[in-house]
Amino acid sequence: MTAPPEKPMPPLVGGISSAGRSLPELDGVKFRTARAKGPYLWDEDGRRYIDLVQGFGAAMLGHSAEAVNAAVSEAVAAGALPGFAHGAEERAAAALTRRTGKLTRAIFVNSGSEAVQLACQTARARTGRRLIAKFAGAYHGWHDGPALGRPGSPEAKLDDEERKVQGQFTLLRFNDTDDIERLFSGRHDIAAILIEPVLANAGCIRPAPSYLKSLAQAARRHGALLIADEVLMGFRVHNGLFSHQCGLSPELAAVGKAIGSGVAVAALIGTDEIMADEDGGRPLRAGTYSGNPVASAAVSATMAGLENIDYRRVLARGDRLRARLSAAAANAGLTLCTSGFGSMFTIWFRETPPGSYAAALAARRPELSMQLHLRLRRRGVLTMPDGFGRCFITAAHDDEVLEETASIFEQVLAEMADIAG
Ligand SMILES: Cc1ncc(COP(=O)(O)O)c(C=O)c1O
Repeated sequence: MTAPPEKPMPPLVGGISSAGRSLPELDGVKFRTARAKGPYLWDEDGRRYIDLVQGFGAAMLGHSAEAVNAAVSEAVAAGALPGFAHGAEERAAAALTRRTGKLTRAIFVNSGSEAVQLACQTARARTGRRLIAKFAGAYHGWHDGPALGRPGSPEAKLDDEERKVQGQFTLLRFNDTDDIERLFSGRHDIAAILIEPVLANAGCIRPAPSYLKSLAQAARRHGALLIADEVLMGFRVHNGLFSHQCGLSPELAAVGKAIGSGVAVAALIGTDEIMADEDGGRPLRAGTYSGNPVASAAVSATMAGLENIDYRRVLARGDRLRARLSAAAANAGLTLCTSGFGSMFTIWFRETPPGSYAAALAARRPELSMQLHLRLRRRGVLTMPDGFGRCFITAAHDDEVLEETASIFEQVLAEMADIAG
């Protein structure tokens, strides 16, 4: 007897190219998106959801903003990739750097991971040093070096007595001033500190008062540069960099997501002085698609759209939703709090938000976060299923949408009282 033929594996590995974006099945059904508009997303069965994921933070104007669509369509029609220099790229750089203070020069790339990579190479070229120090629990993309110590990784626990150096990267503890001094003691090879000024990918852990100042002072004292990873935070809480809002003056910053409304684009931005090295050809920068006309059109149209956002209103609306969640949880006898901002927050099943990565790791309740995700999804609200996941509120989430969102949360939290304990 011959063995039955094995079922062929599907051509698309894992059903999605970026593993972190896969959703669990619900009632045996896979989730597949059909389209998205404003605060909503529809699945292939035509079900409408209020989307609190918004392209993992890429949409600040809401999905499929008309002005961005028009600009992108025009760019596609004029040739998606002529290959040589074009004015749209220059206009996009001007539009982007209008809101980034002393970081007046830009280089476009295609993803946040690339922007971080280029930032690290630039810092090494400038200082002649090799090591980049990054925070345990910070996420800077999936490239080999910066992925060291990403949220949930074994090395992010920092169990070792000795500080680990892997390749050209080492780790330090967020919100721990003493650890900054320990990092620099006896070391003269640190080119830069790479920081997510809010540890967003570990559940929106905010910097303690004066922590960023201590960090900047130590970096200056030891001749290391500061690279702010603003891929998630840039243009999310105000029309500019989060670093500048909290008094940090990095020499370099990586931006992405919100600058392109979901079109694949990111950028390294830097001070005139540092970017002069790039003008001089150090380090290597290349990329068939970097700064392509479609991405450039998306940036210019998005930056124009961001000028019209009333950020204070977006933050206030999000904060009202957060307050409703806390109240609903209390009514249901659940312990719940949120960390972050009105436009981007994480839900915790504990009394107060964690202040360090170690506390966040200990506080994570993956089974409850998954239940919350599944039950909300069943009722028409989409969230990230992970315990460190964020809820994103955009300019398109108006009072009516958020009222519906809050009432669905209220039903779900009441329903979860029995399992959350
Ligand atoms: C803070 C931060 N840096 C870098 C990245 C990587 O960006 P990309 O996924 O565009 O490569 C992300 C993505 O989530 C991010 O949140």
